[in-house]
Amino acid sequence: MNTKIQAVKGMNDLLPGQIEHWHRVEAVLRDVAWRYGYQEIRTPVLEKTELFRQSIGDQTDIVEKEMYVFEDAGGVSLALRPEATASTVRAGNEHGLFHNRQQRLWYMGPMFRRERPQKGRYRQFHQFGIEAFGWPGPDVDAEVIRVGARIWQELGVGGVRLHLNTLGSPDARARYRDALSAYFQDHRDALDEDSLRRLERNPLRILDSKAPATREIVDKAPSIMDFLDPRARADFEALCDSLTRSGLDPVIDIRLVRGLDYYTSTVFEWVTDQLGAQSAVCAGGRYDGLVEQRGGRPTPAVGFAMGIERLVELMAVQSAHDDSARLDVYLVSLVEQQHAVTIGETLRDAGLRVCEHCGGGKLANRMKRADQSGARFAVIIGDEEVADGSVQLKNLRGDGGQQRVARTELADTLRRMTADDTAR
Ligand code: HAM
Repeated sequence: MNTKIQAVKGMNDLLPGQIEHWHRVEAVLRDVAWRYGYQEIRTPVLEKTELFRQSIGDQTDIVEKEMYVFEDAGGVSLALRPEATASTVRAGNEHGLFHNRQQRLWYMGPMFRRERPQKGRYRQFHQFGIEAFGWPGPDVDAEVIRVGARIWQELGVGGVRLHLNTLGSPDARARYRDALSAYFQDHRDALDEDSLRRLERNPLRILDSKAPATREIVDKAPSIMDFLDPRARADFEALCDSLTRSGLDPVIDIRLVRGLDYYTSTVFEWVTDQLGAQSAVCAGGRYDGLVEQRGGRPTPAVGFAMGIERLVELMAVQSAHDDSARLDVYLVSLVEQQHAVTIGETLRDAGLRVCEHCGGGKLANRMKRADQSGARFAVIIGDEEVADGSVQLKNLRGDGGQQRVARTELADTLRRMTADDTAR
């Protein structure tokens, strides 16, 4: 039977026209990481399920509800990675990357979470992330945040605000947790169902609640700032000061807790109000205990991950994409095809992007294909042009003007004209 099978819900095809924007974004991300001295790491998309359960936390939404888990033929429980921090830590420990060494690492690739799909939230999505291992901060925390800021700058993205908080030391967090627990117990009648569940297991996550009645209670809840020990307070102030001096103006958001259990002290999110409900473009923080918990030596660490779909969508909203990936030339030969082949190769030698018309047809049809191709110029070769060693060069944009150009000058002329076009 001829049935049309569609893509898995929440998983997107990236089509021509979109992928060019992705290429540019990915190139900028790689370049910024490289300029800050970060090195790439690639880990498998499949890991043992246990890695994520133990790292992200058994009682988080990601592990409880969103992971794609299956048993392979050998009976091992595997999961499609929902994020890459846990995998990076696993790989670092496995290959001794953290032994008496500091590491600045970056990664990019697909992640999988079985969330309810909506704009900006997908079941397969892509993250770019950086992780810095071996520095206790707060200097490197500021560096990691500045890498994000530089990415917005280089991509021409505006209006993303930095929200910043600290979860304190494990001790401070334990005291804060007790205080929150007692406070929310006193107000349990007003809590929504989700928050009541969280009250038993992880009262900090109630601070995340979107339920209106709970939000009112949350607004009056104790603040972590009152529980910080002097060292954590000094670190947080130094971080805020460094960021402010870099012109980043963080919004101190004492309700920012994050949905993964491995965080300690610094947490942050870059948010925008231009993407509807999915406002976080990038998020991260410090996770000083994770390397040791996964069997390595005590190694402080901090990092972030950004959602590339959200970034590309934000750039579309802000018209920040450029179209320099267009075809430069569509070649139409009305004589022997070999003329187009030779000219095409010469133009590609000069770095131009060229398609030759294939499949024959009338001149009018060929010119229609030239228009559809999105090329800036059509180069047309007929009998007369072969006879005097020239071509017709037609501008497919703007005034549509046409001129005769000597074959020997074609590459230079086109290079000049496409450079002028890009500069405009
Ligand atoms: P996360 O907050 O779970 O953190 O995800 C980071 C970013 O990935 C989000 O801010 C968002 O832009 C994007 N994202 C997450 N889920 C989806 C989805 N379903 N669809 C589209 N985009 C999504 C982490 O993953 C941590 N590993 C970040 C980190 C690195 N912390 C320290 N190092």
